[in-house]
Amino acid sequence: MLFTKELKIADIVEQDFKQVLLLEHLGIPFIVKEKTVEKICQEYNINPNLYLHFASLFANQIPSQIPHYNSNDIKCMVRYLQNSHHYYLNERAAKIVRIVTQIAEETNCAGIHLLNDFVQNYIEEVKKHFDYENNIVFPYMIAMANNEPNIGNYSIAEYKQHHDNIDDKLADLKGLLIKYLPFDDNENHLRRKLLHCLFDLEQDLKIHTLIEDTVLIPLVENFEGKENIETTPTISEEKKANIELTEREIDVLRLLLEGYSNKEVADKLHISTHTVISHRKNITAKTSIKSLAGLTIYALQNGIIEVK
Ligand SMILES: [Fe+2]
Ligand SMILES: [Fe+2]
Repeated sequence: MLFTKELKIADIVEQDFKQVLLLEHLGIPFIVKEKTVEKICQEYNINPNLYLHFASLFANQIPSQIPHYNSNDIKCMVRYLQNSHHYYLNERAAKIVRIVTQIAEETNCAGIHLLNDFVQNYIEEVKKHFDYENNIVFPYMIAMANNEPNIGNYSIAEYKQHHDNIDDKLADLKGLLIKYLPFDDNENHLRRKLLHCLFDLEQDLKIHTLIEDTVLIPLVENFEGKENIETTPTISEEKKANIELTEREIDVLRLLLEGYSNKEVADKLHISTHTVISHRKNITAKTSIKSLAGLTIYALQNGIIEVK
């Protein structure tokens, strides 16, 4: 779909229901009558180019050119991001927790309690990520958009440097559910429901992070008077074929899961830290799992470690 200012918002939503989230996150009431993008944006003081840009991202279209944005657009983007944080935690994550709790109650398969721990830890991480943005980064951006002095000497470079990809662990969880984690046969509908939620949340978070990394950060860098370094969306490394771990990789994995650092693993196996890091990269490439929490579940399901 080609998004233009003349399109009626109701027609856009009829084509793709997920576009209602864009309205919600921008604070536009759901009843839009016969109004066009231009008309609604005028009523709610939103740059129509920003609306069209975000609508394209919702439709998985990455525009070749990012529109020219101003300080009012920064405020609008921050409002959008804050509203979406609230939605992810209170609706999406809450639904995932409900399903995982049901799975833990209804199935007896080994590793299910680890799934529960994994999800709880992940949600804690996401909360911390959002809290940092809500309490530090966004107030800084709003102050900058309002031309207020930078009291705390904060800089967007600090945010850029520490801005993690919060969808990585979701990809791990999806992989574990699809490839490794056994359920009782009559509980497979729960696995499907959980996967459905994870795919939806992952998709949402990808768009969210894309906006933060490729739109907002470069824009604020510009406002800071720094050279606008063009950023491109991170493209995940092409997944390598899923093949067996070597004995050495299994040794490294066991020690890592026992809590040893890269250096300690290197000392125990009489290899260099650099070699340990290479093994870790291979383990991740072969299993498609990046986090230690995810690798614990993988190792358990593949007999590499045992339940204590
Ligand atoms: Fe965010
Ligand atoms: Fe973020």
